[in-house]
Amino acid sequence: MTLIIALDQDSSKASSIVGMLCSVASGFKLGLPLLLEAGAKIACRLRMMCPEKLWIADLKLADIGSTMKLAVSQLVGCVDGVIAHSVVGVEGALGELKEYLEQHGVKLILVVAMSHPGAAEAYNRLLEHNVEVAGRLRVWGVVAPATMPDIVRRVKSFLPETVILSPGVGVQGAKPGDALCAGADYEIVGRSITASSDPLKAARDVLAEQRRRLGECRASR
Ligand code: XMP
Repeated sequence: MTLIIALDQDSSKASSIVGMLCSVASGFKLGLPLLLEAGAKIACRLRMMCPEKLWIADLKLADIGSTMKLAVSQLVGCVDGVIAHSVVGVEGALGELKEYLEQHGVKLILVVAMSHPGAAEAYNRLLEHNVEVAGRLRVWGVVAPATMPDIVRRVKSFLPETVILSPGVGVQGAKPGDALCAGADYEIVGRSITASSDPLKAARDVLAEQRRRLGECRASR
């Protein structure tokens, strides 16, 4: 399965989405709006509803190591992975975070490029630096934009063994399968599924389109 659902709404909506989509999603990504509204322990409560899937806290951490460790300590035991920004560097920041997460059995996922147009101003210009950091830290996964498949292709060529998660499908403009065809392992989808009047049908439609596109792009290789 190739679909991770972004949960950015309030906790009652999130819990209804998890109930509906547990059987079709590969995992769930918990966003800051949800975590701020409901508190960190919502991660444990939601996870209990669908324990076999991948649970990721999208904290977008970008701080010194000690502060990042304090933040993630609230989620240890409730999530499989946390997302941090690569640009803060290793020494005194991501190196300490990685060591702490390893001790607690949590995966580190680094943003190496972003999906919105403004990312071209600075963030995505640092792509080579960011993937070098991800490679040096041997992180489990990286986030790269479905809206920019060329970037996903470059990330895949730099980091062939690292899991690539790609947001930007749906409302931000990428089509299901764009990032998978470029080398991503998962597409992260939020509003086009969670705000739909029938989230289960919307998720099944995304999965069907991903399968169709993957069939096409594999056949043309
Ligand atoms: P939508 O509703 O646009 O939700 O499908 C997308 C989800 O992904 C997050 N997002 C990103 N996270 N790098 C990230 O680490 C990105 O470039 C990026 N773009 C979108 C967004 O916060 C939402 O949860």
